[in-house]
Amino acid sequence: MKTLIKNVEMVDAEGRRYGKVLIEDGKIKKVYKEKGNVKSEYDQEIDGQGLVLMPGFIDMHCHLRDPGYEYKETMETGMAAALKGGFTTLVAMANTKPIMDDAVVIKANLDKAIVLNQCNLIQVAALTKDFGDSELVDFKTIRPLTNVFSNDGVSILNSEIMVKGLEASSEHDFLLLTHCQPETALVKRDVELLAENGGHLHVCHISKKDTLDLIRAAKEKGLDITCEVTPHHIFASAMDYKVNPSFRTYPDRRALIEGIKDGIVDMCGTDHAPHSEEDKLKGAPGINNFEMAFAMYYTVFDQNSISLEKLSEMLSDAPAKRLGIKAGLIKERYPADLVLVDLNWEGKINPKEFVSKSKNNPFGGETLKGKVMMTMVKGELKYDDNGSTL
Ligand code: DOR
Ligand code: ZN
Repeated sequence: MKTLIKNVEMVDAEGRRYGKVLIEDGKIKKVYKEKGNVKSEYDQEIDGQGLVLMPGFIDMHCHLRDPGYEYKETMETGMAAALKGGFTTLVAMANTKPIMDDAVVIKANLDKAIVLNQCNLIQVAALTKDFGDSELVDFKTIRPLTNVFSNDGVSILNSEIMVKGLEASSEHDFLLLTHCQPETALVKRDVELLAENGGHLHVCHISKKDTLDLIRAAKEKGLDITCEVTPHHIFASAMDYKVNPSFRTYPDRRALIEGIKDGIVDMCGTDHAPHSEEDKLKGAPGINNFEMAFAMYYTVFDQNSISLEKLSEMLSDAPAKRLGIKAGLIKERYPADLVLVDLNWEGKINPKEFVSKSKNNPFGGETLKGKVMMTMVKGELKYDDNGSTL
């Protein structure tokens, strides 16, 4: 199957150009600049007139709830929501039921994702058995299945476990993602432990200026550390909607935006955390983000004159590089994981219309800019705004 996307502005972390993209066997076969002649034949043509083609978004942080909490989300509904939001690769957290702490459950999720054939799945493994603080998981059997480990949802309060986790991340060459509450105190400890013990650390959902300053200092020292923000922490402050970490102050929000501009914040994640209405009423923390994330990010970037190239870097290229996958750029021989976005779209997104199984998102009344019009994974059209999820 060969597809040509024509008349399109292409934007990725490496720049902006106008032209055409030829897709063959799930990969980007050729990028034609300007009005280059397409000599080869193709089966399907997509006219990108007025739209922008970007690499599919790679979400370093989401919760698919499958298995165990299927009443909140299933892999099917979560991936349908992700595709509607332009996400083609998902790093799905381990706080499922059972927790992703052994090779059998991890393999089952990876197999399910292959059968589903929606998004690419990187399944996070827990760092410790049942998220406890006594026993690490069995890296030998799990590491061949994933290179991302995290107890996200809960903090690693036990410093000895954190040291062992960092050591293991070096020994088995994986990325350790941390959830830090209290945020600044734990990030401070983890940066010290990283300096002493080495390791590969990624700090999830940073939300405070003080945390950002710690990460800036750690990067200046040359430590192997990256971090992400969420759409909600850079879009809003001082809201009392329950989420972990909480909404912070306006100065914190401004500091995160400055951290994006100066390159201290590496990635834009979602922390998509679907919950039923009943669970939210009982105080479950989390925001359902897949279907609103791009519009929230683009709106904030646009308001702060941060380029679309930078957004693409943070949504696609940086996570791909950190995960060690060849993806996230519009480049020959890269996978044809692509999105078409309409940057002129402006409007309100109604959470009641989410395809996610849950609707927990407090930003329904906000006017946002930017809409995902089409999502393609490995050259296959998976979402089309004109026709709903395919
Ligand atoms: O708000 C949150 N929800 N933060 C987390 O870290 C966990 C997540 C969840 O699993 O619901
Ligand atoms: Zn999370």
